[in-house]
Amino acid sequence: MDGNGRWAQRRFLPRLAGHKQGVNALRRCTQACAQRGVAVLTVFAFSSENWNRPVDEVSGLLELLALALSREVPQLRKDGVCVRFVGDRAALSAKVRSGLEQAEAATAHNTRLVLNVCFNYGGRWDIAQAAAALAARGESITEASLNAAMSLSAVPDPDLLIRTGGEMRLSNFLLWQAAYSELFFSDKLWPDFDEAALDEAIADYSSRQRRFGKTSEQILAAPSQPLHA
Ligand code: IPE
Ligand code: MG
Repeated sequence: MDGNGRWAQRRFLPRLAGHKQGVNALRRCTQACAQRGVAVLTVFAFSSENWNRPVDEVSGLLELLALALSREVPQLRKDGVCVRFVGDRAALSAKVRSGLEQAEAATAHNTRLVLNVCFNYGGRWDIAQAAAALAARGESITEASLNAAMSLSAVPDPDLLIRTGGEMRLSNFLLWQAAYSELFFSDKLWPDFDEAALDEAIADYSSRQRRFGKTSEQILAAPSQPLHA
């Protein structure tokens, strides 16, 4: 969800105003995904590296997380959205941690859409914590065992990965899980990413041929794949 800061700066507003608008865009995108039958939506809200931003922006983002939790969870609960937080919680305060746990508990029974919010997350952190967990249990490290120890092991790998804001890089998001994801880069700043922009990304995805190492002829003979954004 990139581009909140630029969205605000273009309007001569503080960066935090862009992050607030980003919460609105996330609400809109979550509803749109649920309406379109997407089973899993995983968003990058705060990276392991975002702590390096100015302290007032970091504290503003943490306050916004707490505010969004209290405001959004009742509606998410009603809409059938199951919220999960993904990332290193050890670095978060006890208050923030309990807010995450409450949101997860309140929506745990929902099955319409899984919304994974990556917060204090990094793809390298995830791979390292999975390897450390296996090592601590004395288990051997294989592709399958690492995959099972990764933080998103409960959901399938993403079919479509969308980055907004015009940058063409992954910035440490889903490094393991995006091995075969279709990538879509949107020039729209995240607060401007609306239903039409989502539909454009899905239409583009639908036009791709996913081969997973196979030949085009093999794929044409096989059934099509499901969509998990
Ligand atoms: C992304 O928007 C949101 C977070 C990292 C929390 P940015 O804050 O990176 O926005 P730009 O890239 O400065 O426009
Ligand atoms: Mg950015």
